[in-house]
Amino acid sequence: MFYWVLAAAALSVGIALILAIQKSGSSSVPDWSNAVRPGELSPKHAFLSNQCETCHTPYRGIEASSCILCHAGNATLLARQSTAFHATIQSCSNCHIEHQAGVRPIRMDHDALIAIGRKSQPAASPADSSSLAALMAMLGSRSAAPQEQSLDCFTCHSNRSPHRDLFGKQCAECHATSSWKIAGYKHPSAASTDCVQCHQAPPSHYMGHFHMISKMVAGQEHARVEQCYLCHQTDSWNAIRGVGWYKHH
Ligand code: HEC
Ligand code: HEC
Ligand code: HEC
Ligand code: HEC
Ligand code: HEC
Ligand code: HEC
Ligand code: HEC
Repeated sequence: MFYWVLAAAALSVGIALILAIQKSGSSSVPDWSNAVRPGELSPKHAFLSNQCETCHTPYRGIEASSCILCHAGNATLLARQSTAFHATIQSCSNCHIEHQAGVRPIRMDHDALIAIGRKSQPAASPADSSSLAALMAMLGSRSAAPQEQSLDCFTCHSNRSPHRDLFGKQCAECHATSSWKIAGYKHPSAASTDCVQCHQAPPSHYMGHFHMISKMVAGQEHARVEQCYLCHQTDSWNAIRGVGWYKHH
């Protein structure tokens, strides 16, 4: 009998709690949320610790509209090439996981982009195909997975490319989304004379500056721009061959 009463009391307290929270929000019952919260909110969301429903819509879970209510029109985010997609994206929690305490709630997930449906192949590569083919042969098959290849890397990452336009727009032919480094990649020998196939000289090399400064500094008065190897080495563009470190301002 005693246990039945105890169980009934516990049940009614439980139901009353749920009803109270349902009716007037999670702040109406202090501290209940600590029991069901999977972990502390990130520092910048900590002020929402007692207002779970600002992010969690009852019966539905996390909805983009809750996040957008506070985060629409973030000019810094929309101005940057790689994050401009925030203007139209309709899902947030794939890349913004919460309740990990001190960890900033940001984890880029390219697969989420595919899931959300942001696919579109870039236009065919305008790059010099012979040097590209040579480089790709050297790299073997280390490019992005077929799924990832459907993403248009260029629209989000062309600003990051160190290759100017030499390697074209199909970044995924050589790069995966996990890291810009390519496992096993070795730069061609410093004794190579093919530098110009993969590297483009800065604009200053096509102006008077090249004749008046670059050639003089390098001590290569008869060099043509395409003969990078006469003046440059493979560790840094500023370590001039036979001269040492040189930085022009
Ligand atoms: C700043 C927004 C935000 C606030 C405020 C917030 N959460 Fe969350 N919560 C999230 C996100 C994002 C997830 C991950 C959802 C997913 O995996 O899709 C999550 C996941 C959860 C989960 C795991 C189950 C699920 O729905 O995925 C629980 C339980 C949870 N939250 C409880 C709470 C409680 C209790 C509070 C109030 C103390 C709270 N949350 C406040 C953003 C928030
Ligand atoms: C009640 C308003 C509110 C809601 C709802 C909200 N946020 Fe925030 N969020 C903020 C504020 C305020 C900051 C701190 C902004 C700052 O310092 O510039 C912030 C910070 C962030 C940051 C940066 C965190 C960091 O450590 O730098 C991210 C990412 C973010 N929110 C994503 C989300 C997502 C995704 C959701 C929905 C699950 C969400 N927010 C819901 C108000 C909110
Ligand atoms: C495909 C992954 C992805 C999705 C989906 C996504 N974001 Fe982001 N978001 C990011 C990444 C990555 C960053 C960090 C960019 C950086 O600064 O390096 C970011 C940054 C932010 C920031 C700025 C954080 C800061 O540094 O102050 C806010 C706010 C934000 N996102 C909100 C949202 C909201 C709201 C949604 C849903 C409408 C959303 N995000 C969807 C990946 C995503
Ligand atoms: C809709 C925009 C978008 C598309 C499309 C996209 N990315 Fe990203 N990518 C991002 C954002 C945002 C980040 C987070 C860092 C940043 O802010 O630049 C990122 C980060 C990366 C990183 C750095 C990962 C790390 O942790 O160091 C690599 C590598 C990368 N992307 C490769 C690719 C490749 C390859 C493709 C095409 C298959 C691609 N991305 C397509 C937006 C995008
Ligand atoms: C033909 C192959 C190829 C293509 C196409 C290509 N890359 Fe690369 N990229 C490389 C190689 C090789 C490296 C050197 C990798 C290493 O050092 O591990 C590299 C390095 C990089 C790095 C890292 C530079 C550093 O050291 O910090 C970035 C960022 C990068 N590429 C972005 C891009 C972007 C964006 C695109 C598309 C517009 C692109 N790449 C297209 C081959 C390629
Ligand atoms: C088969 C293609 C290829 C050839 C040939 C080549 N490079 Fe590179 N080089 C790369 C790639 C890819 C990277 C890494 C990404 C980047 O920084 O552009 C790189 C990086 C570099 C860097 C570092 C740039 C930085 O700021 O971190 C220098 C310096 C360099 N190369 C010089 C040379 C010189 C000098 C030659 C000729 C002797 C040469 N390269 C030949 C592909 C090549
Ligand atoms: C006649 C010698 C010479 C030749 C040939 C040459 N350079 Fe340079 N380059 C220099 C010198 C000297 C500097 C540094 C001072 C300056 O700006 O003149 C420089 C600077 C650079 C820088 C800028 C470094 C920085 O950040 O300040 C890059 C990149 C570069 N060269 C790439 C190339 C490439 C690629 C080629 C071949 C297509 C090439 N150069 C051909 C002499 C040369």
